[in-house]
Amino acid sequence: MGKNIKIFDTTLRDGEQTPGAKLNTSEKLLIAKMLERLGVDIIEAGFPISSPEDFNSVQTISQNIKDSQICALARANPKDIECAAQALNKAVSPRIHTGIGTSDTHINHKFNSTREKIIEKGFQAVKYAKKFVEDVEFFAEDAGRTDNVFLAQVCEKMIEAGATVINIPDTTGYCLPHEYGEKIKFLVNNVKNIHKATISCHCHDDLGLATSNSIFGILNGAQQIECTINGIGERAGNTSLEEIVMILKQHKNLGYETSINSKYLCEISKLVSETMSINVQPNKAIVGANAFSHSSGIHQDGVLKSRITYEIIDPIEVGAAGSNIILTARSGRAALSHKAKSIGFKLSKDELDKAYSKFLKVADKNKVVDDKDVLQILKAK
Ligand code: KIV
Ligand code: ZN
Repeated sequence: MGKNIKIFDTTLRDGEQTPGAKLNTSEKLLIAKMLERLGVDIIEAGFPISSPEDFNSVQTISQNIKDSQICALARANPKDIECAAQALNKAVSPRIHTGIGTSDTHINHKFNSTREKIIEKGFQAVKYAKKFVEDVEFFAEDAGRTDNVFLAQVCEKMIEAGATVINIPDTTGYCLPHEYGEKIKFLVNNVKNIHKATISCHCHDDLGLATSNSIFGILNGAQQIECTINGIGERAGNTSLEEIVMILKQHKNLGYETSINSKYLCEISKLVSETMSINVQPNKAIVGANAFSHSSGIHQDGVLKSRITYEIIDPIEVGAAGSNIILTARSGRAALSHKAKSIGFKLSKDELDKAYSKFLKVADKNKVVDDKDVLQILKAK
C-alpha cells in the first residue's frame, strides 16, 4: 500500500470562481454528492461570507454530506471566520480554511503592511478559527512568490496557533516544478513543528504547470492536493483532480495512492461541465472527448492489434465508453476494414483496396468519415 495523498476538491469554491460558472445551492449539492461518491477526502464547499446563497450552499452541503469533510473559506478576520463556522455548524467533520497573502508583492501592494503584522494577523485568525473547529487549514496566499525563509516562519507560527494543515498556494501559477518542489522540501526541513501539520499544495495553471507542480510537491513531502474537476478555476484554472489521481495510479512505483474511485471521473467531469456551462477541451487529459480516440493510420493499426500500443490507461478505468477509431484522411486500411466489419461488411483484400481509394477521396473532402459515409462507399459500385 502506498502513502495516502488526501484529495481536497475545490471545484465548488475556486472552480466556481470561473467567470460564468456560478451555481445555485441545489446544483452545488448535486456536485457535492458526486464528489462524496467519487471518494474525495475534503470538499471545499464555498466562501460563506461572499453571498447569502453561498452561505446557504455550504450549510446545505454540511447537512447532507457525511463521508467527506466539509471545508469553508474565510479571510483572516473574525467576521469571515464566524460566518464560515456558522455555515459549517452541522457538518460531521468541518474545516475552516483561513489565510492571508504572504509574498512581499501582496504585503506591499495589497495590504500596505509589514511581514510582522501579516504573521500576527494570520496567527490571530488561526487562533480564532480554533475556537469553532478543531481542523483549521491556513493558506499562505501567493506562497509561490514568497521568500522561503519568511514562509517557514509563517508556517511555524500558524502551526503554533493550531493550524492542522498548511496550504502553500502557487496562487499566480508562477513556479517551475523543481522550484515548487524545493519550496516544499525547504518547509519540511526548516519548520521545526511541521510534523504536527499536513502540507497542502494548491497550484494554479497560468503556465500550464499546475499538475506538474503538485506532483513535485508530493515528491517533496506534501500530503494533500487541492484540485478541481476538469482543472477549472480562477484564470487558467487549478490542478486537475483527474490528472493527479491517474498520475499516481499509473505510476504506482512512486509509492502514493488516493481514495478516489476513478471509475466515476468521466461522469463527474460531464456533470461539472454541464452544470457550470464550461466545455471540456477535446484534448483534455483523461476526460476529454479525444482522450481515447485514434485517427492516424499508424496508431489505429497498433490499437487494433493491441490497445496498449497507444493507450496507457484503460478507458473503463476512468468510466469512458472505450477506445475510438475515428476515420480521417490520415487513417489506413486497417481502420477502414475494422469499421466495415463493425457495420456488417467483411472485405477481401481486393474489395478493401477498392473501398480504400474511394474512402480517401471522401476523407479528403470531409474532416471525419462517419458510418453513414462508409456504408455509402461500400454500397457504391
Ligand atoms: O489561489 C489561492 O491562493 C487560493 C487561496 C484562497 C487558497 O485560492
Ligand atoms: Zn486558488
